[in-house]
Amino acid sequence: MHTSDDTESALSSVFYRDPLHRYPSVERGDGVYLYDSDGRRYLDGSGGAAVAAVGHGHPAVIAAIRAQLESCAYAHTAFFTNAPQETLATMLAGRFPEPSARVYFGSGGSEANEAAIKLVRQYWVARGQERKRLYVSRQQSYHGNTLGALSLSGNPVRQRLFGPLLHDWPKVLPCYEYRHRQAGESAEEYGRRAAASLLDAIKSHGAENIAAFVAETIVGATLGVVPAVAGYFGAIRDICTEHEILLVADEVMAGCGRSGTYFAFEQEGFVPDIVTVAKGVAGGYQPLGAAIARGEIHERIVDRFGSFAHGHTYVGHATACAAGVAVASVIDNENLLENARRMGTMLRDRLAAAFRDHPHVGDIRGRGLFVGIELVVDRATKAPPPASLGLPVRLRNEAMAQGLVCYPGGGTADGRDGAHILLAPPFTYTEDNVDELVERLGHVLEGLSLR
Ligand SMILES: Cc1ncc(COP(=O)(O)O)c(C=O)c1O
Repeated sequence: MHTSDDTESALSSVFYRDPLHRYPSVERGDGVYLYDSDGRRYLDGSGGAAVAAVGHGHPAVIAAIRAQLESCAYAHTAFFTNAPQETLATMLAGRFPEPSARVYFGSGGSEANEAAIKLVRQYWVARGQERKRLYVSRQQSYHGNTLGALSLSGNPVRQRLFGPLLHDWPKVLPCYEYRHRQAGESAEEYGRRAAASLLDAIKSHGAENIAAFVAETIVGATLGVVPAVAGYFGAIRDICTEHEILLVADEVMAGCGRSGTYFAFEQEGFVPDIVTVAKGVAGGYQPLGAAIARGEIHERIVDRFGSFAHGHTYVGHATACAAGVAVASVIDNENLLENARRMGTMLRDRLAAAFRDHPHVGDIRGRGLFVGIELVVDRATKAPPPASLGLPVRLRNEAMAQGLVCYPGGGTADGRDGAHILLAPPFTYTEDNVDELVERLGHVLEGLSLR
């Protein structure tokens, strides 16, 4: 099929994400707004994909990056450490609830999760438990697109083509109250039932073979911002401890303040063995990710092997870490966790009021400035919009036509059908920004008919 968009992309050498789509070119970012080369302004309602934590063009972050570039942009960390890496590691480890945590840097979320997979494996080998090689994760999750991280992801659409290249690791049920909690079941009972799915996997595969359980503390892109019910992660933590399985919290989206606390797990009452972060850690100013591991994991690996058998060229990149230090400092100095909590509550309340009678808004949920809106064909039956409607692309295009960047996704209900809109604005949002976001989203959803 040939479209006019093809003609446009034929002029370009870029291998676009969607070669049939014509993308406006972004020219400038300022605070909560992005501007394209035609001068159109877009309110950033999702930080791209939950990235722009402190907004665009923040002068303190730019100054820190500039200063680092002027002193030393990069020196390989096989030869040198650098001050930003040291400072950021201290900041992140200091936010981890236990002392002595260690921080292993990479360039994004997938790399952080790959590092976590290998840290876990090397830890168990160091402890003489060589059989531990399976990673249990959840259906309808997303952990990245590299082969290890994609193997963890319970996302049939993203996995489809690559099945023969992936590890066939066990998947258990997500904790997805809106669709899976049964009538007459309390949230607590439901949380226990969802957590018991991990016990079933342990029975089938044997704890001696399972290295880790990996879960997003708040499920972002695949479920549309679904926090667990109270008690679920506490039960998961107990099961992991009892069966000697490491617990990895993927907070690539939910972490670094997005949920209103620096780590989302702080609100869930558990401490993971490893937490991975990316996106918000440098807020999009530089590509950066990290796996933060309990001190014991570092100790066992170093005692037995001397070092972690892993590495990339850009581990501990000085300029990326300088951006990370600056973003974390802005979050502290501008009291942005508090603002994320306050604006997040306001956003959810105002969305609930605006869409109270909208026939296709089934659920509004989230924590802090991490908010999901699940769309349904019918509110009473919760019937999901069929995948054939192509809603995510339609919604993205309509939102951009309305001057709004939000992050729609599909497959919400069962991995295939269903749709949601993910909102993850900069933590610098004001009440006016919240109102503008709700108003623009209102225009996007105004004409939406799924019947
Ligand atoms: C929870 C989660 N983990 C991992 C990733 C992968 O991160 P990246 O795209 O930076 O590789 C993502 C990306 O959306 C994510 O949402």
